Amino acid sequence: MTTDKISRRALGGLAAAAGVGVPLLAACSSDDPATANDPSGPSSSSSTPTGSTPAGSSSSAVAGGEALAKTSDIDVGGGTIFSDQEVVVTQPASGEFKCFTAVCSHQGCIVSDVSDGTINCACHGSQFSIDDGSVVTGPATFPLAEEQITVTGDEITLNA
Ligand code: FES
Repeated sequence: MTTDKISRRALGGLAAAAGVGVPLLAACSSDDPATANDPSGPSSSSSTPTGSTPAGSSSSAVAGGEALAKTSDIDVGGGTIFSDQEVVVTQPASGEFKCFTAVCSHQGCIVSDVSDGTINCACHGSQFSIDDGSVVTGPATFPLAEEQITVTGDEITLNA
């Protein structure tokens, strides 16, 4: 309770200092549904290359999308997080691939790992289904938004 009081006071103080308290909170909370419904967020403008793209060229994308991984990179019953693209690709059943935003619907952390059928966020312990992104364990109340991928042969491409 004391911490809660301090947090609110500190937040209020910060808000007063910045002069943007309410809009800041509003922007923060409205970001979650926006992430869930509008994938045209920061990922579309950021093209920071990583070592995870097998093609090796950061600017070239497979026609219509960005090469993410080989199908063999994704464990059956598990998944892989692509932090730079802010997505997680799962394989709930053999040959069935799903892709979700890796931005936790709770407070926006990048999810931390995939295990035992769930996508897990270490920030506050939320867990999401690898099958449909739905909340398995809170505090998150919104599912992870699905992202569109294309699987061609053994290549998984994040749709543009
Ligand atoms: Fe993921 Fe809170 S940000 S559980």
